[in-house]
Amino acid sequence: MKIMSVVGARPNFMKAAPVMQALRKWKGCDLKLVHTDQHYDDNLSRIFFDELGLPRPDMHLEVGSGSHARQTAEIMVRFEKVVQEEAPSLVIVYGDVNSTAACALVCAKMNVPVAHVEAGLRSFDRTMPEEINRLVTDALSRYLFTTEESANRNLAREGIPSERVFFVGNVMIDTLLRLRPIAAASTILKDLGVEPQQYCLLTLHRPSNVDDKDMLGEILDAITKVAKTIPVVFPCHPRTKARLDAYKLAYDGIRLIDPLGYLDFLCLMSQSRFVLTDSGGIQEETTVLGIPCLTLRDNTERPVTIEQGTNVLVGNSRERLLAAAEQTLNGGSPKGRVPDLWDGKAAERIATILVERPARCAF
Ligand code: UD1
Repeated sequence: MKIMSVVGARPNFMKAAPVMQALRKWKGCDLKLVHTDQHYDDNLSRIFFDELGLPRPDMHLEVGSGSHARQTAEIMVRFEKVVQEEAPSLVIVYGDVNSTAACALVCAKMNVPVAHVEAGLRSFDRTMPEEINRLVTDALSRYLFTTEESANRNLAREGIPSERVFFVGNVMIDTLLRLRPIAAASTILKDLGVEPQQYCLLTLHRPSNVDDKDMLGEILDAITKVAKTIPVVFPCHPRTKARLDAYKLAYDGIRLIDPLGYLDFLCLMSQSRFVLTDSGGIQEETTVLGIPCLTLRDNTERPVTIEQGTNVLVGNSRERLLAAAEQTLNGGSPKGRVPDLWDGKAAERIATILVERPARCAF
């Protein structure tokens, strides 16, 4: 059985690593890894392969950046050729990036079954490119592996047959639990000169927050005020850095650094006082670590992190952000618990299902 995994962007790598590792244990599985190269910078891509123990990709599609249509189309054209040549029995896609939806669409047209890891999440905000990718990918997948109960309900509501849906837990948390002890040895706090619990960690890259000059200006204005109380460390995504430079916005007092590898970032997150972010995955990671997370969005596709975890939605207005930061610094944050099945064994459950119930066709 030839199983092909597709990765393209940073948040895919930590999800694919445990799944590939779990499948490797099954004899008779011919595993292939395809990298679309949606993310190509070393510190958004290569470093993760090294740290996560992902094998070198068997194929690179070298698509790079572009508009959504161009990037998606380019991935489709190049991936179609790979599927023709390799004839996989199954393709596994991860998360909600353009590479995920593009490859699911190629497979559906070629009658190759798709397994979607992290299916069913919904922000109900179709202005987010990721929400479109989630809807498309789930509609076309043969196996839908979910991380939380809300995803099961969303898929049922959309009419996805229940025999395709498997509540397996969270593979990204498999990676976190495996690498937490190794990340603890990182020297990143020392390198940055910050003390445990004495800094806030910031990430910001979502188009709705960074592509609009006024919005980005307002967020930065609020965070520069937070930085007067507690140091703010900001590993900056290249798209955000490009906007900061283009808009010539001030970020006085915010400690801007290059994007970090997985281990340094995990260490920095685990030791922070709180996290400010607009990422999807970080909402989940902070919940497991028990670190307060203030999410700079009005919605989340991961509601379990609010209902059970440490996540609070603060939107992107100056007032709400400042009030939430102050409350957090005064100790007023949810304590939270670890959601069901976020136990480090999600990838093993996925591998067992895929191997024991092989699908013969896409639908
Ligand atoms: C993508 C995902 C997003 C995910 C994020 C994690 C989609 C629609 N979005 O957003 O869900 O949270 O990855 O990082 O798939 N760039 C570089 N070097 C790179 C890659 C990108 O400099 O290696 C810059 C380019 O200017 C590029 C921009 O970042 O145009 C945006 O990259 P892109 O892959 O389109 O989306 P992300 O914002 O990274």
